[in-house]
Amino acid sequence: MSNQNFYVTTPIYYVNDKPHIGHAYTTILADVLVRYHRMLGHDAYLLTGTDEHGQKVQRAAEANAVSPIEHCDATVVRYKELWGRLDIRYDDFIRTTEERHKRVVRACLQRLWDKGLIYRSEYKGMYCVPCERYFMDKDLGVGGLCPDCGRKTDELLESNYFFKMSLYQDWLVEHIKTHPEFIQPAFRANETLGFLKKPLGDLCISRPKSRLSWGIELPFDSEYVCYVWFDALLNYVSAVGYLSDDALFKRHWPASFHLIGKDILTTHTVYWPIMLKALDIEPPLSVFAHGWWLSGEAKMSKSTGNVASPIDLIDIYGVDAVRYFLMAEMTLGQDASFTRDGLSSHYHFKLANDLGNLVNRVVCLGLKHFDGAVPPAGAATEPEVELKGVCMEAVKSMRSAVESMRLNQGIDSVLCAVRAGNKYIEQTAPWKLAKSQNMDRLATVLRTGAECLRVVSILLNPVMPSKMSDLRAILGIDPAAPVDFASAGIWGLYSDSAVMPKGSKILFPLVAEPVEPEATKPPSKDKAVVVKTPEPAAPEGVILSIEEFQRVKLKTAKVLAAEKVAGADKLLRLDVELGAESRQIVAGIALHYKPEELVGRTIIVVANLKPAKIRGLESNGMLLAAKSGSALRLLMVDSGCDIPSGSSVG
Ligand code: MSP
Repeated sequence: MSNQNFYVTTPIYYVNDKPHIGHAYTTILADVLVRYHRMLGHDAYLLTGTDEHGQKVQRAAEANAVSPIEHCDATVVRYKELWGRLDIRYDDFIRTTEERHKRVVRACLQRLWDKGLIYRSEYKGMYCVPCERYFMDKDLGVGGLCPDCGRKTDELLESNYFFKMSLYQDWLVEHIKTHPEFIQPAFRANETLGFLKKPLGDLCISRPKSRLSWGIELPFDSEYVCYVWFDALLNYVSAVGYLSDDALFKRHWPASFHLIGKDILTTHTVYWPIMLKALDIEPPLSVFAHGWWLSGEAKMSKSTGNVASPIDLIDIYGVDAVRYFLMAEMTLGQDASFTRDGLSSHYHFKLANDLGNLVNRVVCLGLKHFDGAVPPAGAATEPEVELKGVCMEAVKSMRSAVESMRLNQGIDSVLCAVRAGNKYIEQTAPWKLAKSQNMDRLATVLRTGAECLRVVSILLNPVMPSKMSDLRAILGIDPAAPVDFASAGIWGLYSDSAVMPKGSKILFPLVAEPVEPEATKPPSKDKAVVVKTPEPAAPEGVILSIEEFQRVKLKTAKVLAAEKVAGADKLLRLDVELGAESRQIVAGIALHYKPEELVGRTIIVVANLKPAKIRGLESNGMLLAAKSGSALRLLMVDSGCDIPSGSSVG
């Protein structure tokens, strides 16, 4: 399988837009797929970039009194920075304003012109300025509105250049029917075939410079620039050496997957393959259209302000948890609902509770009883055989999930292995083995747990590269060593020389979350708690050992001062005293307590929680509260008692 080409692309994003969770999703998906394919030994390559021509950019530049290219240079960094923060390792980033791209667009236009596939004609029709598209009367929406964005269209009469797309309609229908993998998922192929039931018109590929000058000039008429979609689609070939580097082009083309959102299906499954056919270039192997991320149940839109910002989420949960959530939550092809609650519960239940707990149990006991160097496993008994079976099933399932673009199913199967790992630990009760000094059996149990985690760290590596590298370090595996998929399928590779280091950080610490109402949260679920702790474990779930519980330091704290946080209805900022130490804690309790009610009271806090930033304020600790429905009361120590602040609770 080595050297198999895997060339994946994302749409090139409008440089004007502020990147949001939808853009982040496609690009993370591409990155995750490329990382899996690399682990499988394939020649994987990821292209992304920005779409920089067109009326919207020209107008935004005018509004800012800068040139269009200055405007693009200033805004493109938003994407580049975000991809950096999201740990996306693209191989190339193409901007449609780069000379290497413009050269190819001009050459393609010239070639089509020379072949007689472009002609000039009068155009009279309706035009949507925001979408930069013409529509025939029959294609307009109700009341003559744009069928795509629903906005008013303007009548336009002008002379333009047209690409003879209609010539290729029969070829395209045949291609789609004979290549079921070309448009995925299959129901999207039916959508395109449905569209192709009507006669296909020719494509207007020019805009007169009198109306729009920010574009690539037509090589055969300097009064016109190229239609932005015709220009943009060509990025997929201009970036990989088409007409400039034959060897590179041969290495990557045809693309394995163009990943797109469902709204740009027609441009990618009608215009693009026909453009390629007319240019005598092979079509891509697959165009995969994913669904939309909705904000709760509603469409995300800038005007309603319900667009989730990836940066805010990374700041709270960390980049890997955001990547994990997006990959685990969306069934590829379908729409998915994005809510802060959804992300929080994935984080706390699946990552912190299920996975974090297994790591904690194996490593704590390994350190305590073997100084981190757990001896090799003895003979496998029924529970070991069972756990191995579930882990190997997860390997198979992940492999086929990658091949069939069902990543969420693969991730589910890995989480199944994690839960099986926890069940195994409960069944074999290593703490009892330690108590009875059954060290051989204890070693077997801990080695088996470590082996399960080693496999998990490989299978989830593309989704959470940094956390899985941390996990390998916690297990005593060299995090710098290359990770290959095949080694996940071989049970028993946890090395005899691995030593779990002391003092590793907790992989998924509990997260303090601000609770001000925000865009990604449905208003009906307005919970007024600052910190989400996992619900009590499900019956077959996690039972904490006393050692584990003792790692949480609960202490009494005296409230010295309290005040509302400006601009956040639900937040109070407290200064508390823990013995000799004083700290700031930000808590979502303002709807339940007035600041003055708290000053002088002694409350209970989790004292060894990683500090978090809430509304830009550092919060160093978590208050304990009881909650029922909308009521919330803090746990407090009786007034007038002789327990000083900083005393241990537990
Ligand atoms: N510039 C064109 C693409 C040209 S590709 C040759 C474009 N850009 S875009 O910035 O508007 O959109 C880029 C992608 O983001 C599209 O695939 C679109 O589907 C996707 N998304 C925008 N909002 C989205 C969600 N809410 N959810 C998921 N993806 C969404 O179109």
